[in-house]
Amino acid sequence: MNFHIMTLFPEMIEGAANTSILGRAIDKGLLSVNAVDIREYTANKHNRVDDYTYGGGAGMLMQAQPIYDCYMNLQPVREGRKVRTIYMTPQAKVFNQDMAREFAKEEDIVFLCGHYEGIDERVLEEIVTDYVSIGDYVLTGGELPALVCMDAIARMVPGVLGNEVSGETESFDDGLLEYPQYSRPEEWKGKRVPDVLLSGHHANIEKWRHEQSLCRTKERRPDLYEKYLATHEKL
Ligand code: ADE
Repeated sequence: MNFHIMTLFPEMIEGAANTSILGRAIDKGLLSVNAVDIREYTANKHNRVDDYTYGGGAGMLMQAQPIYDCYMNLQPVREGRKVRTIYMTPQAKVFNQDMAREFAKEEDIVFLCGHYEGIDERVLEEIVTDYVSIGDYVLTGGELPALVCMDAIARMVPGVLGNEVSGETESFDDGLLEYPQYSRPEEWKGKRVPDVLLSGHHANIEKWRHEQSLCRTKERRPDLYEKYLATHEKL
């Protein structure tokens, strides 16, 4: 899977993408991350990529031309392939696990990261296929949101987490939060690992974990708990 990130700060993307699990997946050839500097495509002799907003209002807007030229030069676009192009913006539906799973089926994904007060609407109409937010708060740019989405999408790509783990066995796979987990030692600061986990009785362990997931979801995410009950427990 190939990620293409159009940004004014490619070093932000490169630093984060080359570490840990994403870095390993890139080394293994499962992923590629191509951060492209929009500024390199400006036709402005002073290297400007922003300008005032028609109609007035505070702040500057990213102009259409550099973004469009940058997009047209991306490899999958040059090759005439249709690519999902995601504009990171708080004016959109909020990203979730289902969306991560869906995007993970694509061969190429383009992220467009905005700055300043936003982007000229005309270039968005021309190239964007999906508008995605990471939550109801406003950040200074789209790079952190793009990294968040890229991480969540990448871990759903087969092989990225390694053969032994599947992205599907974690929180949200069935709409519940994950149960608590413990490692050695059996006792730490007077707190013991729950007996059932030491019992070796797999059915009891599964049952305990499911109950813990239910309790945790009810307490921390009552909205998810209600949804789970509505779909799973037809009484
Ligand atoms: N850009 C600025 N804030 C954002 C958010 N919450 N989600 C996605 N992109 C953004």
